[in-house]
Amino acid sequence: MTADLAALAYLVAAVCFILALKGLSAPGSSRRGNLVGMIGMVIAVAVTIADPSVMSYWWIVAGLVIGGGIGTAIAFNIRMTAMPQLVAAFHSLVGLAAVLVAAAALYSPQAYGIVGADGAIRLDSRIEMILGMAIGAITFSGSVVAFAKLQGLVSGAPMVFRGQHLLNLLIGVVMAAAGVWFAADGNTDAFWIVAALAFLIGVTLIVPIGGADMPVVVSMLNSYSGWAAAGIGFTLENELLIITGALVGSSGAILSYIMCKGMNRSFFNVILGGFGGAGPVDTAAGQRKVNQGSADDAAFILQNARKAIIIPGYGMAVAQAQHALRDLADKLKDNGVEVAYAIHPVAGRMPGHMNVLLAEANIPYDEVFELEEINSQFATADVAFVIGANDVCNPLAKTDPSCPIAGMPVLNAENAAAVMVVKRSLSPGYAGIDNPLFYRDNTMMLFADARKMVEDIVKGL
Ligand code: TAP
Repeated sequence: MTADLAALAYLVAAVCFILALKGLSAPGSSRRGNLVGMIGMVIAVAVTIADPSVMSYWWIVAGLVIGGGIGTAIAFNIRMTAMPQLVAAFHSLVGLAAVLVAAAALYSPQAYGIVGADGAIRLDSRIEMILGMAIGAITFSGSVVAFAKLQGLVSGAPMVFRGQHLLNLLIGVVMAAAGVWFAADGNTDAFWIVAALAFLIGVTLIVPIGGADMPVVVSMLNSYSGWAAAGIGFTLENELLIITGALVGSSGAILSYIMCKGMNRSFFNVILGGFGGAGPVDTAAGQRKVNQGSADDAAFILQNARKAIIIPGYGMAVAQAQHALRDLADKLKDNGVEVAYAIHPVAGRMPGHMNVLLAEANIPYDEVFELEEINSQFATADVAFVIGANDVCNPLAKTDPSCPIAGMPVLNAENAAAVMVVKRSLSPGYAGIDNPLFYRDNTMMLFADARKMVEDIVKGL
């Protein structure tokens, strides 16, 4: 394949990636977006393999078979609730790949065509390599810590210690100095000092961040992995890798920003850590009275409602209750009840978690609303049906400035004429705090597994 043809094909692949992102931005077009992205990736891989400078096809085939086989097996077997840690684990590999490619280029610069007239690695390549490698190393170790926290291998609580910001600053300064040293004369010791410190700072940056903020961290590491890939794209002089890396880098950064906004936290507040440990649980919770109801009570109230707003949360994902929920909504609509779904930006455990589950159950997109679109409508709803959600509709966020979710925009479920909450007990949600919504006079608690309860309500209807 000629260089011009390859450049054209890379351009087509890059356009596919941009169209894929555009498609993924709305539920209705997301499947098409995914497909276009896959086509772009096939073009990218095919053109790269067709490059005449490929030295061994066996290594490529072995990589595709082993990596592709493991990836496919994991994708088929992963539970939806374990998706955040899977994403973290995959990012760590992107980071490690960036480090390995930079190391390979350091020891075989001729193979990469980055040698200058003086026989040493060119200055521009040294800068690109060290930047890509350092970001890759931070991404690797940071993602491994994020994976371990989300998987429960280490405590999700923030590990905060005195002088941690000072320590990070110190590591950062020494790392930058070693980076300048490498850029100046391509010294291999300097390269490995930067690598070691970047691996270290990846750990010290992520360890103090609590579990509740991990999604933001994962999305931020996703962004880093993109910038690492872009840096390595310069080393390899591969335009497509540069474009793809920049797309991943910027979209990850935008997603982190949107998530911070959803939790009403500033990005720096998240990065500086210390939030999201097991919060103080109200010890009086067990003694306070709640109104408990049955599936038949719920069926009776629901079929007499004019408008019901459903608030899904993490518990719906755990119970896999989305299909039963769809049956319930269909029955209600047949009875003339107006049904809408209210989606909080951080409901569940990953961005878009609820949207994916509702789409899986073929719930019409025009019934699904974002927090800002629907929050004022609770006042006109007869029922707010909370299924496996807790923090996202906890009114404490609006009234208690000392609680861990203070200031986070929440769904105004309490404004509905009646509130029903499906969950198994009075246990707190992710933020570890009690929810006063459960004890209100107009709230009925439906204690059961979400799927079982919804199926029973459907029978009752
Ligand atoms: P949570 O506040 O975590 O509450 C989920 C509730 O579901 C729990 O109180 C639990 O109560 C109930 N539950 C669990 N399994 C259930 C089952 N099988 N059947 C019925 N109920 C069940 O969830 P949320 O309201 O969706 O809020 C999300 C929280 O996670 C926020 O604090 C958010 O910041 C955080 N977070 C979000 C993300 C993203 S990006 N979405 C990622 C990580 C963390 P019982 O045990 O009593 O049943």
